[in-house]
Amino acid sequence: LSDKMKHWYEGHKFAAKLYHHILTVSDEGREAREYLRKRGFTKEMIDHFQIGYAPNSWDFLSQFLKKRSFKMDEMAECGLVGLRESDGQPYDRFRDRIMFPIWDRRGNMIAFGGRVLNEGHPKYLNSPESEVFNKSENLYFFHQARPSIRKKNEAVLFEGYVDVISSWRAGIDNGIGGLGTALTENQAKMIRRNADKVILCYDSDEAGMNATYKNARILQNTGAEVVIASLPEGYDPDDYIQKHGPKRFLQDVISNYMTFTAFKFRYYRRGKNLQYEGDRLNYIEQMVNAVSQLPRAVERDYYLRQLADEFSLSLEALKQEQTEVIKSQQ
Ligand code: UTP
Ligand code: MN
Ligand code: MN
Ligand code: MN
Ligand code: MN
Repeated sequence: LSDKMKHWYEGHKFAAKLYHHILTVSDEGREAREYLRKRGFTKEMIDHFQIGYAPNSWDFLSQFLKKRSFKMDEMAECGLVGLRESDGQPYDRFRDRIMFPIWDRRGNMIAFGGRVLNEGHPKYLNSPESEVFNKSENLYFFHQARPSIRKKNEAVLFEGYVDVISSWRAGIDNGIGGLGTALTENQAKMIRRNADKVILCYDSDEAGMNATYKNARILQNTGAEVVIASLPEGYDPDDYIQKHGPKRFLQDVISNYMTFTAFKFRYYRRGKNLQYEGDRLNYIEQMVNAVSQLPRAVERDYYLRQLADEFSLSLEALKQEQTEVIKSQQ
């Protein structure tokens, strides 16, 4: 471990303490406190996830870092401060944002996700990629969730920081989150090494559905059993918990998951008009194709029957179609 890395970890820890203090007790933190309160964040959540607030100042953090003799070029490299082009003077990179610390798998604090209060762009300003913060090799809250993931042999993967936090409050302690990028093979393996099963619970919008489809495949390729916990259109896990409460979230969403194949039945339907023959045939072909990839004959039979029933087709015709699909793939 190089000295520079140690300084990076220490810088983040120090910043997180200051931000947390500002959020929880200071006058400057009042609006942020109010914002979080309205969104259903409790004191317990704010403490457990060490959430903070970066005040609306250009030099709040940089002054404190200087006083503690942190090296400004090091702090700039990990993105805690920026350096002014004109004279090299440091300025705070995160201003007027709710701060979510991000840890590596060993529990070192390596980055921040900073959310604007209310609307604004970008919604989340994240620490830049650096030697300490590699977005494709880390997952939000993995270091804390890992023991439970191992014990339950199951991980719940969410899209957003807030979803992990709200679900934790609802009782899910094996929940982890992406870092605003597509899931990588490394992240999938990281999960797979600790559990046989992954529940994907992404936002129920266009982006979330596409990410579910993509990431389920990536996870499946590691040999994990992947299931999908889906939400009503337009909701994300946190929205659902705020609206319907933790009990319904656990019962109707998390425990009520479907197989990846069942998800495909929905996914391939989007944007199609199944009254129209062309779309209908296209859909049936996509599903037969998906079903043909299932390893077990009983599973294939089960879904083909479902398809046959829905479209009043004969099972024989679908099996024939399937045989042709399998042949063409060999
Ligand atoms: P969402 O837009 O779904 O955010 O992005 P969210 O978590 O529901 O946020 P709230 O509830 O509005 O506060 C999901 C994740 O994508 C990343 C973040 O990691 C976020 O948690 N993201 C999103 C970014 O990195 N930058 C952005 O501007 C937006
Ligand atoms: Mn506290
Ligand atoms: Mn989203
Ligand atoms: Mn969301
Ligand atoms: Mn949300």
